[in-house]
Formats: sequence, structure tokens, C-alpha cells
Amino acid sequence: MTHDQTQPRDQARQGFDRTSGCGGLTTKDVGREVSLAGWVHRRRDHGGLIFIDLRDRSGLVQLVFNPAKNPEAHRAADGLRSEFVVAARGKVILRDPAQVNPKLPTGEVEVLPSVVEVLNESLTPPIYVAETADTPPVDEPTRLHYRYLDLRRPRMQRNISLRHQVTMAVRTFLDRHGFLEIETPMLTRSTPEGARDYLVPSRVNPGRFYALPQSPQLFKQLLMVSGFERYFQVVRCFRDEDLRADRQPEFTQIDVEMSFVEQEDVLRLMEDLVAEVYEKALGRRLTRPFPRMTWHQAMADYGSDKPDLRLGMKFVDLTEAVRGSGFRVFAEAVAAGGQVKAVVAPGAASFSRKDIDGLGEFVKTHGAKGLAWMAFEAAPAGGGPAGGDQLAEVRSPIAKFFPPEALADLRARLGAGPGDLALFVADQPAVVAAALGALRLELGRRLDLIDRTADRFLWVTDFPMFEFSQEEDRWVAMHHPFTAIRDGDLPLLKSDPGAVRAKAYDLVQNGVELGGGSIRIHRRDVQERVFDALGLTPEEAREKFGFLLEAFEYGTPPHGGIAFGLDRMVMLMAGAETIRDVIAFPKTTSASDLLTGAPSTVSPRQLAELGLAPSRSE
Ligand code: AMO
Ligand code: AMP
Repeated sequence: MTHDQTQPRDQARQGFDRTSGCGGLTTKDVGREVSLAGWVHRRRDHGGLIFIDLRDRSGLVQLVFNPAKNPEAHRAADGLRSEFVVAARGKVILRDPAQVNPKLPTGEVEVLPSVVEVLNESLTPPIYVAETADTPPVDEPTRLHYRYLDLRRPRMQRNISLRHQVTMAVRTFLDRHGFLEIETPMLTRSTPEGARDYLVPSRVNPGRFYALPQSPQLFKQLLMVSGFERYFQVVRCFRDEDLRADRQPEFTQIDVEMSFVEQEDVLRLMEDLVAEVYEKALGRRLTRPFPRMTWHQAMADYGSDKPDLRLGMKFVDLTEAVRGSGFRVFAEAVAAGGQVKAVVAPGAASFSRKDIDGLGEFVKTHGAKGLAWMAFEAAPAGGGPAGGDQLAEVRSPIAKFFPPEALADLRARLGAGPGDLALFVADQPAVVAAALGALRLELGRRLDLIDRTADRFLWVTDFPMFEFSQEEDRWVAMHHPFTAIRDGDLPLLKSDPGAVRAKAYDLVQNGVELGGGSIRIHRRDVQERVFDALGLTPEEAREKFGFLLEAFEYGTPPHGGIAFGLDRMVMLMAGAETIRDVIAFPKTTSASDLLTGAPSTVSPRQLAELGLAPSRSE
């Protein structure tokens, strides 16, 4: 029965032109003669009757082979194994009421095939395509090695198809709003996003290199100079950085740029875009308008420029309350210009000493020197008229440093109730933010306080223009050097660069940076002042970005834009843990492709051609 590979296709497939997708058959089709083709998802032999779940992209349907009714088809079905490719023709019938499977869209019907043809066989797959609750999880290296099989799994099919829905919705929206999709080069010069470049040696120009774009930033600005007014591109970007669950060396941006806009225009239209994409691809309505928070507020309250608002536990600032306190650690930190802040973990007063010491070690990995704590123990239930609502005592190694009224004041500021645990970090603001921010998320996970059903969007605005790089011992652009500065902040460029705010914004969803953008500088004099603040000489600026600066001399319109991480957007929509699960062929965290074996070595001849081979004398 095996399909003869030498036969011309149309002859072999004669009579098997598909009439339906497996997953689309319903009671409406009962009585119809259908032709299906797909993969054997599961095969069950029930002493005589053979059941095959046939799977194609549209879903599954059950085929039933009855030796009494059609011995020939039954014989064919007997040889079928998982992942064989099969074509079948037969009649759609109603399932016996007792056999109805309410979990399957096609669960009310089945197909009685009269003819089956094996179009191709399969080795026993090393990955369970037909996942059930009992199938053991497959390790990721195996999944990535056999990615083509991994992608057959219904979950992955859904993710990739969702990605397509999202991309389509993006294109439709932007097209309707007058955006043109314009491609920009992949072989180009270094762009200003600040990660490490992937370099491509030039054979024709030995010793010279292209850089793969970290984003189309400079080109999209040039397109504004060219008068396209509204540009977008679903575009691959390349960054050689340390990889994580939401970072890949090559990833896709929904890249947007607009002329004659202010920040407000960009935020409003992009919010419309995200809302429409959610509605079209998931049928979900988002709560709007998205809340907004300045960068300073986000850092002060959550210690992060991408706060996860599915979780409460806002920081409590106790700096003023503990100024001059008897607890030296706090008093000294405040005297040194630092802060004392706390988070209150609801219901965590029962944490053991060992648990809390563990948290102390955890914050140390984020730069804190220590972690002070106060557990507000609940009185034992039934111990009094109000039972567990009563506060029994404060358990804390630092309570002894605070007189009762100071302790009561702290507790009121903390808003801590019986059963809560307050955790304090005293240090310089950046350390407090990093340590307490990480602790907040860690506690949210441990105590299961994150509302996983919620989608919490947030615009973070007014980013600082610069951050000081200890490594380079100079100010560097937090976003990129083409970002416009808030109108009132220009005079601070020289006097106080750290206080200069940019017209830059990020869209954050559930603690993930979904996108970022800015209004751009469009005047050469302003651009030069920013380069100057960055310590770039006019020569260096010209050497790096001369083509853009030159273009700025020819009537550049005011413009701005944004780029969303498509992979991250789809990851969050799909409820996936990593962007690898929404990319057809992703790389591992060590930037290798386990399917093709890239990166690989190349022949000495290729290297020689590129002028990269070590000379023979070496
Ligand atoms: P930015 O560098 O913030 O901005 O990138 C925009 C968005 O791209 C996503 N992203 C990534 N996704 C997966 N893997 C990565 N390695 C990765 N790096 C970034 C994030 C991020 O928010 N040219 C500017 C945009 C602009 O100013 O218009 C830019 O590239 O979701
Ligand atoms: P010490 O007096 O150094 O033994 O610290 C007393 C308590 O304060 C311990 O629980 C320390 O973990 C904690 N602690 C020390 N330094 C800090 C700090 N910078 N911020 C918060 N707590 C601290």
C-alpha cells in the first residue's frame, strides 16, 4: 500500500483531492463522502476496530476501521503508525452518543474510510507529537534538533499561526492608517542601539565589514527625510548580546516611524494598534487607555523601568521616617544620601528564619548589603475575640532599635497587617531599586501573588536621556543618541546631564518591555549638542553617523516612532514561557541552531577569500 515514490504525483493521488480539513468536520457533514489527508496522530486497536486520529493543520478527526464493513481498508489501517502520512476517503457518520468526545471540535462525528493510502511512512518520532497529560516533557535540545517535528505539535502550530494572525493584523492596521512597508538593508553599518554587532566580512573589500542591523533606526529616519511620512516594517534585527528567555540574537521588530507627530500622537495610534491586534488575533478587549507612569515613578515605586503591575507590593519609602534612627544601618545609609525602602509580603510572616536568610542572600546577588525584616505575627486563631486579625507580636532582629511609638509609626507607614512580612533595604537609590525590585518579583512568584489571567499594559515615559557608564566613564544615551529632549531640559545638557529627560517611551506588558521608541532630534544644532554631551567629537560623530547628519541638513521633518518586539508580543499572547516557543527556528541561549548546527566552521578557502585566513607562516 505504500505510495510508490516513482509514480507521477497526480496519478498516485488520483481520487484523493482533499475535500475537507480534518479539524473542520461537524455534524453538518454527516452523510458526506470526504477526502482527507494528514498525519497519523494516534492509533488505537480495540480488538478488531482500529481508530486512527488523523491530523492536518486544521485539527483532528477520528477514522474508524471496521474489519466486518471494509476488510481492505482495515488491513491498510493495521499497518499505520504514528506520523505516517495518509490519504483517506470515506463517509462522515455520527458517533454513538456514548462515544462523543466533547473536548474535540470534531468529537461528535467520525469518518468510515473506504480507501486509505499511505503517502509516506515515518520512523518512530523522537518527540511526542500527540501530547497528552501523561506524555513526558521532551527536553528543549531534542525539540530544537527535531524542530520540524516539534512544530507539528498542536501547541506549536497554534503559536506559529497566532504569530501570523498578529502580523496580518499589524499590517492591515498600519496599511489602513497610511503606512508604507519599506525594506531596509541587512548588510549595512553599525546602528546605534548599543549592543554588540554581528559582522559580515566583505570579500570584495578585504578587511572591511558590514554590520547586520540592530534595528532599522537610521534608515527609517532617512525615510522620513525622504518624505514617506509613515513607514513600517516587520523586520529582522540582529544583536550579539547575552541571551535570555525573551532575547534572541535575531528577532523581529514591528518597526514604525512617523513624520509631523508629537509623542502623544505616537502613543495614541500605537495603543490603537495593540488593541486592534489583541481583538483580531485573540478576540480579547484590552482595558484602555493604558495607564502611564514616568520612568522616575516606576523606579521609585517598583525599582524597575518595566514594572509588572499584575502584582501589588509597591515600595514603601521610609527614608524620612528612619532618618537619625537608632538602627545604625538605616541612619548611616540616609546620612550618606541613600534611601531606606521596604516591601510588604502579605502572609509571609510565617517564613522561617532560614527562608528569610535565603532572601537576604538573594538581595545580595542584586547588590544589597543586607536585608532587614519585621514579621508581624498574627495572634493564633481563636486566641482572642478577633482571632487571627490580632497582632501577636513583631518578630524582628531590628525591632529592639525602635521605641514602641517608632515601631507603630513604621507599621502604619508600611500598611502591614497581621501575618505580613516587611523587608527593608538601605542603600543608594540604584541599589535599593535593583535589590528590592528583584525581591518583589521573587516574592510575587513564591507567594503566587501574580494574577496570571490579567494583561497589564503600561506606558513608561520621560526616560532619562543619559545614564552614566562606569565601564566607559562617560554619559551614554539610555535609548539612542537621536532621541529628542524634553523642551524645558535643553539647558541641563551641560550642567546636569543626568537630569535631562528624553521624549522616550516604552510599552510594558506584565513586566516585559514590549516596545520602545521616541521623538527624534530633527535639527542639526541640537543633535550636535547631544553628541557633545556624549563626549563624541564632531569628527567622531561624522565618522559614525555622517550620512544621517548630512541628511539632516536637507529639510528634515519633525518625526518619531517606536519598535515593538513581535516575538515578545506573541509570546505573551500565546502564554508561552519563552520567545523560542513562538519562533519557528530559534537559537539556544548559547546562540546556536541545533537543527542546522550553525554556527559552524568554514573551509580555509572561504576564509582566505574573505581575507580572514591566517597567513601560511603562522
Ligand atoms: P529597542 O532596542 O528598545 O528599540 O528595541 C525595540 C523592541 O525590540 C524588542 N527586542 C528584542 N526582542 C527579542 N530579542 C532581543 N534581543 C531584543 N532586543 C530588543 C523589545 C524592544 O522593546 N530603534 C529602536 C526603536 C525606536 O526608537 O523606534 C529600537 O530598536 O521588545
Ligand atoms: P548588622 O548590624 O550588619 O548585623 O545588620 C543587622 C541586620 O540588618 C541584618 O539582618 C542585616 O541583613 C541587615 N542589614 C545590613 N545591611 C543592610 C542594608 N544595607 N539594608 C537593609 N538591611 C541591612
